[in-house]
Amino acid sequence: MKILKIASIPGDGIGREVVPAAIKVLEAIADVHGGLKFEFVEYPWSCEYYLEHGAMMPEDGLERLKEFDGIFLGAVGNPKIVPDHISLWGLLIKIRREFEQTINLRPAKMMNGIRSPLANPKDFDLIVIRENSEGEYSTVGGTIYQGEDEIAIQNAVFSRKATERAMRYAFDLASKRRSRVTSATKSNGIVYSMPFWDNVFKDVSKDYPDIQTDSQHIDALAAFFVTQPERFDVIVASNLFGDILTDIGAAVMGSIGIAPAANINVNGKYPSMFEPVHGSAPDIVGKGIANPIGQIWTAKMMLDHLGEEELGHQLLDVVEGVTGDGILTPDLGVRNTTKEVTEEIIHRLQAL
Ligand code: NAI
Ligand code: MG
Repeated sequence: MKILKIASIPGDGIGREVVPAAIKVLEAIADVHGGLKFEFVEYPWSCEYYLEHGAMMPEDGLERLKEFDGIFLGAVGNPKIVPDHISLWGLLIKIRREFEQTINLRPAKMMNGIRSPLANPKDFDLIVIRENSEGEYSTVGGTIYQGEDEIAIQNAVFSRKATERAMRYAFDLASKRRSRVTSATKSNGIVYSMPFWDNVFKDVSKDYPDIQTDSQHIDALAAFFVTQPERFDVIVASNLFGDILTDIGAAVMGSIGIAPAANINVNGKYPSMFEPVHGSAPDIVGKGIANPIGQIWTAKMMLDHLGEEELGHQLLDVVEGVTGDGILTPDLGVRNTTKEVTEEIIHRLQAL
């Protein structure tokens, strides 16, 4: 029996609705497999935890998480009781940074039965590899002077090590997909980091002669995500460019409620973390209508990462069967509940 130990952190808001739903789905798929078992340990770290303890997680929180094969997180944030920068940096970003989760993976594809806001969408299926540890999101810089003389300087940091790591990840992944990597650049406007980015891309691509490559400036690339998303297979992007592109990816899919993501530790020292793109959705919390598919697709990415790609594939097939039959939550224009969508998925898994 293969046992996978998973730390679950539902977090805030609808995280507490969609994480339990996805865990039920994971348990059902383990039964389908027969030789697989999940052991979940739930941690209540959240904004409410912060109110009680003065921190988003206990001091030995990371130490406890180290043991696990994976971390399954819902959403963090309840701005009514804790400012967002405290809750996000105290939990989510802390785990990403300390556990060296240097790659952020975000797929986007046309799902059966889900209406894209694009007028005439073709069948697209892409994945963005976002560098997750440096780039534009650095803490190097500062401010001087006040008033009309005030100056803010924010430095972007690009190391060969991290850039190459993200690109190799993209090429390796492309070789298992449609063998095409697009680099998101802006070397016509940003004169040091982006020409450097282009050079590393050229160097890495030499090791992958079977992979087709192209470079696109980020502004044009963003437009192509709307006009021709079907052009793309794997896209590698810096931290900021990847952040923006993936929100467009989620938008063209039809709802942020279905978009999954993974934060991958590639050196094997720490577990990876799996969390959907959406947040805690305070506007719909407690109504029982949160779309569980983002969290369930995220569970599929966790299965893939933990060596259960066949199961992951089966799971997404079943999810698309359910969406294809129009069993959808209100964010997708239908009136099914979280529970109904989840139960239908489980029911179909059990019938496999
Ligand atoms: P949000 O993603 O929570 O909600 C944006 C809109 O999408 C809302 O109208 C919401 O109802 C809808 N939505 C999101 N997920 C949905 C789902 N599964 N099913 C149906 N509808 C869904 O973003 P917002 O409102 O900007 O942020 C709320 C809180 O979440 C904030 O505290 C923010 O900091 C936090 N947040 C946390 C993230 C994380 O934990 N990774 C990511 C984004 C936001
Ligand atoms: Mg974002």
